[in-house]
This record gives sequence, structure tokens and C-alpha cells, in this order.
Amino acid sequence: MGNVFSQFYFIPAARLTEDNCPDQKGRVFIVTGGYSGVGYELCRILYLHNATVWIAGRSVPKAQEAISRIKEAAPRSEGRLELLHLDLSDLSTIKPAVDSFTAQQQRLDVLVNNAGVMYPPEGSTDAQGNELQVGTNCLGPYLLYQLLLPLLTKTASSSPTASVRVLWAASIALHVALPTPQGIIIDDDGRPTDQGVSNNYSQTKAGNVFMAREFSKATPHTGVVHAAFNPGNLRTGLQRHWAGFGRWVTETFLVYPPVYGAYTELWAALTPELTPEKSGAYIYPWGRFGSLPAEVESSMKSKSEGGTGIAAKFVEWCDKQTNAFA
Ligand SMILES: NC(=O)c1ccc[n+]([C@@H]2O[C@H](COP(=O)([O-])OP(=O)(O)OC[C@H]3O[C@@H](n4cnc5c(N)ncnc54)[C@H](OP(=O)(O)O)[C@@H]3O)[C@@H](O)[C@H]2O)c1
Repeated sequence: MGNVFSQFYFIPAARLTEDNCPDQKGRVFIVTGGYSGVGYELCRILYLHNATVWIAGRSVPKAQEAISRIKEAAPRSEGRLELLHLDLSDLSTIKPAVDSFTAQQQRLDVLVNNAGVMYPPEGSTDAQGNELQVGTNCLGPYLLYQLLLPLLTKTASSSPTASVRVLWAASIALHVALPTPQGIIIDDDGRPTDQGVSNNYSQTKAGNVFMAREFSKATPHTGVVHAAFNPGNLRTGLQRHWAGFGRWVTETFLVYPPVYGAYTELWAALTPELTPEKSGAYIYPWGRFGSLPAEVESSMKSKSEGGTGIAAKFVEWCDKQTNAFA
């Protein structure tokens, strides 16, 4: 219970903010969903500290507006701010975006898989016919990561240990709102089964944690460090599809300004405490290591290790769904 409470209230002060972020000149970041909410605040802080930041998103006008606002607020920045045009709910858009990125950038230091959709209208799907949340929150980020892995690995080979990272946005749902303690109810193929819109969202957030941990197994070979994080409970556009009493309660009692979520992401991206040995760790608001429920941990172990192997099966399913687009 303490693990739940400490993610809502009396959260320790953020240790990395716009005030003490180290200089990021020469470092390259991709932040999906970087033109709004938590992602916007992260891009703003990184650019202020001279980073090259690519905002990955699907709306050109929203990106242009965010880029102008961020640049106006930091006229002395020596950073660069660009749009990486892709739609995570259409797998066919991701490779062209990565090809364009790799034609223009020789390195990628940090990929922040921040974008997400929550509680869309029942029956919403991505362009490939997958449930919209699983498509946007898991399959798109899976493919984006796979396509960027060669560049991440190359960057890691000539960068300080554990400085090249991939971050995966999870949620308090891991502790309070899973349809099963194991995280995802998969079918025989590893596909998440339909548990209704709100449980489906929670399953995708478990999927993000599963990906961070599964991919962390390759850290000793790639040098790329992974972490999943709960950004905190924040007032953003994420609740846009949510109406009624639940939304009122949440907005009134449970949420913080989005910049706090950016502090969680900033810590995950930059803290020296995230070493290769800690790759696959889980991070609590506003930047500190935290634990996951035992059943979720069990999903991330193979049967031979005493677990259920659910995470590996789910990631294998993601691979099968996306490999035609790689
Ligand atoms: N807010 C919270 O309390 C909270 C709590 C726990 C976890 N999180 C997680 O934190 C992350 C950031 O959420 P937020 O609160 O900042 O929400 P937000 O303000 O709604 O931002 C979400 C971002 O994702 C983008 N996105 C959605 N669908 C996309 C697609 N198909 N392709 C590319 N980008 C897409 C959105 O762009 P469009 O405007 O184009 O849709 C938007 O920029 C999410 O992963 C969310 O699950 C948030």
C-alpha cells in the first residue's frame, strides 16, 4: 500500500529540474508526443539546456506551435528543435520517419517513448486494425525502438557508460488498475485480450514495462539502458476522452501540473544512478527507483526462472505484428 500512496502524495521533491539540468549540447533526443502535456515540458527543459530535440508526433500544426513557443521562451539556447513526423497508430508511417531521421542525425542519445492515448471511444483501432491503445502505446513504440536500435547501439559505443537510454511511459495503473495481477491477459499467441477500454489502457502500460525489462536483457551487448516510469498523476490532454464523475475526482484531487511528469522523465533520462546493472528498472514520480507488484515481476521471468513468461510472449507478439513494417 505504501508503494501506491507514495506515488500520489508526499512525493519527494524532484532532484532534476530546469534549474539544475546539466548542459545537453551535442546530445540528441527523440520525445514522442513532445508537443503537449508531459512531453512538451520535457522538450522545453532539454532545449533550454542546449539539446537537439526531435518532437515525434502526427500533427504538423501542433508541433509547429510547440516549437515556436519553446524557442521563444529560450532565445539563447544553442540547441535544435525539429519535428519527426510519424503516427504511432499507423505502423506504415514509422520507417519513413526513422529513415529521414537517420539521414539527418549521426547519433541518438535518448529515445523517450512518452506518447500515449487513454480511453478512446470503444472499438477504436489503429490503421492496422489493432485496438487503438495497444497500437499507439505498444506496437508503434516497439517498431520505433527496433528501427532506431542500430543508431542507439552505435551511439552507445562511443558515449559514456549508460548515457544512451530508452524510456517507456507506464502508469500508476501498474499498482491499482490492472485487469489481472500479472499485467496483461494474453491469448495463446501473446495478444492482449480485450478487457474493455480502461483495462485495455492498463494492459498497454504493463506492456511498456514488459518491453523495458525484456529489452534490458540486451544491455550488456548494445550498451543501451532501459527504464520504465510512472510520470505521476498529471493534468494533461490525456484525460480528453474521459467524462463524468471519475474525471472530476481525478482532476480535483489527484493531479499535478505536467512539468512534474517531465521531471520524472528528466531524471530517468539523465540520472547517473541508472547504471547498466539497473537497466529495466522502474521509476516513480518525480525521479526515484521504485518496485513493481510481485505478480508483474513474475510475468517478466521465464518459467525456468519461476515466473510465467507472459512479458516475453507479449513482446514476441509485438514483433510478429510489426515485422512487416520494419
Ligand atoms: N497524465 C497523467 O496523469 C499520466 C499518468 C500516468 C501515465 N501517463 C503517461 O504519460 C504519457 C504522456 O501523457 P500526457 O499526460 O502528457 O498526455 P497528453 O497530453 O495527452 O500527451 C500525449 C501525447 O501523445 C501523443 N499521441 C497520441 N496518439 C499518438 C499517435 N498515434 N502518434 C503520435 N503521437 C500520439 C499526443 O499527440 P496528439 O495530440 O496528436 O494526439 C500527445 O502529444 C502517456 O504515455 C501516458 O500514458 C500520464
